[in-house]
Amino acid sequence: MDIIELAKRRGFFWPSSLVYPPIAGLYDYGHIGTMVKRKWEAAWRAFFLGLDEYYYEISPAVIMPEQVFQASGHLEHFVDPVVRCTKCGHTERADHLVEGVLKEGFEGLPPAELDALIRQHKITCGKCKGALAEVGVLNMTFPLKAGTGAEARQAYLTPETAQGAYVNFRQMFDVARKRLPLGLAVVGKAFRNEIAPRNALVRMREFTQAELQIFFDPEKQDHPRFAEVAKHKLRILPAGGKEAQDAPCQELANRLFPFYAYHLAKIQEFFLEVLQIPRERFRFRELSPEERAFYNRLHWDIELDLPSLGWKEVGGLHYRGDHDLARHQEVSKEKMTITEDGRSFIPHVLEISLGVDRNLYALLDVCAQEEAGRAVIRFPRGFAPFDAAIFPLVNKDGLPDQAREIKQRLQQAGFSVFYDASGSIGRMYRRMDEIGGPACITVDHQTLQDRTVTLRDRDTMGQVRIPLQELAKALRSFLDGVALEKLGTPLAKSPSRREADDE
Ligand code: GAP
Repeated sequence: MDIIELAKRRGFFWPSSLVYPPIAGLYDYGHIGTMVKRKWEAAWRAFFLGLDEYYYEISPAVIMPEQVFQASGHLEHFVDPVVRCTKCGHTERADHLVEGVLKEGFEGLPPAELDALIRQHKITCGKCKGALAEVGVLNMTFPLKAGTGAEARQAYLTPETAQGAYVNFRQMFDVARKRLPLGLAVVGKAFRNEIAPRNALVRMREFTQAELQIFFDPEKQDHPRFAEVAKHKLRILPAGGKEAQDAPCQELANRLFPFYAYHLAKIQEFFLEVLQIPRERFRFRELSPEERAFYNRLHWDIELDLPSLGWKEVGGLHYRGDHDLARHQEVSKEKMTITEDGRSFIPHVLEISLGVDRNLYALLDVCAQEEAGRAVIRFPRGFAPFDAAIFPLVNKDGLPDQAREIKQRLQQAGFSVFYDASGSIGRMYRRMDEIGGPACITVDHQTLQDRTVTLRDRDTMGQVRIPLQELAKALRSFLDGVALEKLGTPLAKSPSRREADDE
C-alpha cells in the first residue's frame, strides 16, 4: 500500500507549506495525524515516565546558544559525508550513494575510505553520471542569530532534545530530588539539515523526538527491579551477526550491565505490548564502535521490519557515560559534580531515544493492510485517531439528530467520537477503516423503535446490536480489548454480506 499517498488523502500528513514549492524534509500533520501523534506521545509518557517515580518531563527551548553545541561536540562531529558531482553540481550523501551501488551498509565509514570505494568501483553521479569530487563532510546543525545588532548571539536549533536535559541537569537535580537516578524526559522538536531527506517522516529536517535521559551513579550498575525482567527473552542482533536471536535478559546484563539490560527489556515491552508490534518485526541491533555516535559507549538501535522499507532504526538505547555533563562542566565552568554516599562524581547518562514521527510512519506501515475490497489500518485500539465513529444510516427521518445526540453523550463520557453523514454507510465504513477507527456505531430506523444501535468492529467487520443505555460501557470494554461478540447480539447476516448490501 502507498502509505504516503494514503496519509495525504486521509489527513495524516503531507509536505509542509503545500501551496508553495516544498522544502524537502518538512512535513505538516493534519487532524487525523495530529491525534495519532498525541496518542503515541501520551503512551510514551505513561510508559517511560512510569518506569520510576523520579523520572520527570521538562520542556526546554529549542534555540540554544553556540556554547551548548561546542560542549556537546555537535559543531565538530555532527557531520555526514557528502560528495558533489563535478558536472551537474548535485550533492549526495556519500555513504548512501556507495550503499546503493554496492548493496552493503557503509554508515560510519570515514570519508577517506568512502572516497577510496568510489574510486575503486568507479562510482559516478547518481543523477548525470558525471565524475565525483573528493568526499567531504557537511555539518547538519541549523545556525541562526538570536537578537539584533551588537547583542545578537550565535545560536543553533537543537539537533537532539537531549541537550535540553543536560543543560538543565544541575537545576533539576537541585530543585527535584538531590538523589540519583534522576530521569529527565523531553518530547520536543529537533532540527537537522539532512543532506538527503527521504521517505516522508523517516528522514526529516524538523522532527519530534521523545527522549529520556537517566542520570545515574556509574558505581551502581544494578537495577532494583532487575529480577522482574531477568528471564525475559530479548530479540537481539549482536554486532557483526546476520540473524536476530532470542537472548535471556540475564545474559545481556552479564555482558553489558544490569541497569542497561533492564531498560532494554522495558523498551521491548513498550514495542511489543503497548504498540503491539509483531515480535518478528522487532529487534535490537548492537552497533560496532565504528558505527556508534561519537558520544556513545554502548549503543543498541531499536529496529523494526517495515513492509515498505525493510529493517529501519526507530530509536536507540545509548550509554553516553559522562561525556555530556563533563563537557558542559568544562565549557560552562558550572559544577556538574554531585556528592552521594560520600563520593563526588559526574553522573553518567543512559539515554532512551525515540523519533516520534519515524515511529508513527512505522506504526502506520506495520498496521496498514490491503484486503478484499478495502484498505484497513489495524492500529492498536488505543492509538486510533478516534475511539469511534457514529453514522446515521440515512440522512433523513430524524436519524442524524439521534446520531448527534448519541455522539454528544459519548463525548461527555470521555470518548473521542467522529460524526459522518456524507455518503452511503458502506463508504463511511471504508473511510473509517482507512484511518484506522476501531469502532463504528450506526443509528438506523430500528434505533428509533427499540433504542438500540449497531457497533461494528473494524478488524472483523462483525456487528452487534447494543441497547443505547449500555453503549458507553460496551465501547469502553471494546477499546480495552474485549471481543465484539461478547458485548451485544450479533447481527444475523454475515458481516461481508451486510456491508455489500449497504454500499
Ligand atoms: N539523542 C540521541 C539521538 O538523537 P539519533 O539516533 O540521532 O540519536 C534518535 O536519533 C532517533 O530520532 C532516531 O532513532 C530516529 O527515530 C529519530 N531521528 C533521527 N534523525 C531523524 C530524522 N532526520 N528524521 C526523522 N527522525 C529522525
